[in-house]
Amino acid sequence: MSTLHVIDHPLIAHKLSIMRNKKTGSKDFRELLNEIAMLMGYELTRDLPLEEITIETPLQKTKAYTISGKKLAIVPILRAGIGMVDGLLDLVPVAKVGHIGLYRDPETHLPVTYYCKLPADIDQRIVILVDPMLATGGSASDALTKLKEHGCTHIKFMCLVAAPEGVAKVQADHPDVDIFTAALDEKLNDHAYIVPGLGDAGDRIFGTI
Ligand code: PRP
Ligand code: URA
Repeated sequence: MSTLHVIDHPLIAHKLSIMRNKKTGSKDFRELLNEIAMLMGYELTRDLPLEEITIETPLQKTKAYTISGKKLAIVPILRAGIGMVDGLLDLVPVAKVGHIGLYRDPETHLPVTYYCKLPADIDQRIVILVDPMLATGGSASDALTKLKEHGCTHIKFMCLVAAPEGVAKVQADHPDVDIFTAALDEKLNDHAYIVPGLGDAGDRIFGTI
């Protein structure tokens, strides 16, 4: 069973509260989303393996540590996932970025795939799949399946707000993938929106309301 990590840092809680407020505009919403992505990325990368190297400081030779093994890939689910990429790239500038395009059918709420472009060596990388909203879990689950079809074996899923229904679906479909969220909300409403949530993340990021 995958683990759900709720990253309840005070800075993240404060920034998320501003994002939830319907009076917050796109500019602030975008900036805060990237700031939270960076803060969450710090936690998410905590278990990256290190290797010992020898370097020479201006004074003497010494042991030092550098990240070893698999490198990172960040994969946003379009559109809203794009809003978390820059924050993560600030932390790991050498990460490669793939894109998976999905939208929810307004009637069925089921995801429809329209785009997929991934780094050629994605199967050799630790992948962080990002999307601010985990609602029914259909989009995240389909994107994870797509990544596995491309050979990915080491994947983490990062979102901002999760509903219990979405967490249950991802855990059932992908028990090998840990979920990282800034908040676990109460439930979905009749339109499969997260409540209290923050509304439509893509619309709020890109001002398409
Ligand atoms: C939103 C969100 C997720 C999805 C979550 O995208 O960014 O991708 O819904 O819902 P789910 O867990 O029920 O699948 P949306 O379909 O609104 O597309 P957009 O990002 O292009 O606006
Ligand atoms: N997508 C969003 O952007 N928000 C929700 O609450 C659910 C799906």
